[in-house]
Amino acid sequence: MSVGIEHVEKVYNRYSRYYDLIFGKVFHSGREMAPLLLELQPQMKLLEVGVGTGLSLPMLPRTVNITGVDLSEKMLAQARKRLETEQLQRNVQLLKMDATHLQFPDNCFDRVLAAYFISVVPDPVLVISEMKRVCKPGGYLVFLNHFRNEHPVVGFFEKILSPMFYRLGFRTDLDVNQLMKDCDLEIETLEQIDFLGHWKAVRCINEK
Ligand SMILES: C[S@@+](CC[C@H](N)C(=O)[O-])C[C@H]1O[C@@H](n2cnc3c(N)ncnc32)[C@H](O)[C@@H]1O
Repeated sequence: MSVGIEHVEKVYNRYSRYYDLIFGKVFHSGREMAPLLLELQPQMKLLEVGVGTGLSLPMLPRTVNITGVDLSEKMLAQARKRLETEQLQRNVQLLKMDATHLQFPDNCFDRVLAAYFISVVPDPVLVISEMKRVCKPGGYLVFLNHFRNEHPVVGFFEKILSPMFYRLGFRTDLDVNQLMKDCDLEIETLEQIDFLGHWKAVRCINEK
């Protein structure tokens, strides 16, 4: 994919003011699945990569220590406003950070969440390797994402249209099985989010 990280940052800086309006409701049902898949216990440490405007944060238990990172300062500014209005400052910290170079030591989170994120980065394998590195052995990695459809015709169009969609901020050609294989991860659970199965919720256990 020839589009670089600077392009991604620019696109999401631009989206930031309208993001909740466009992608709030559309992705709501997937975000609702996140707490169930994460199986969070009090005092656990959760990392959300590509936290964006923080739409998932109010759905997560307040007894968990949450760190959200994002490349776009303007998306984070919206997330900070949400922390204030929802009074989430006590258990959530937000940091500007590139998920391809996470500034955390190895094995320091119990859970790592990537919600509608993996298809916006130029190198998803590198990001997932970072997610694995910072997640404790036996911890959960949860992905909510668009993955290429199994139907050959739909999948074909998703593949050829992917470069065009990527200019808008996300790719449509990611094959979930191939991606997890490339990342040396086994899929533990895979559920459809929407009726047609374009979006999926995937949980993997970090075996290292
Ligand atoms: C489609 S939004 C998803 C936001 C949020 N997770 C949600 O559910 O609405 C993708 C987010 O990933 C961020 N992002 C893109 N590349 C990134 C990177 N390399 N490191 C950190 N964040 C990144 C974008 O700035 C954007 O906020």
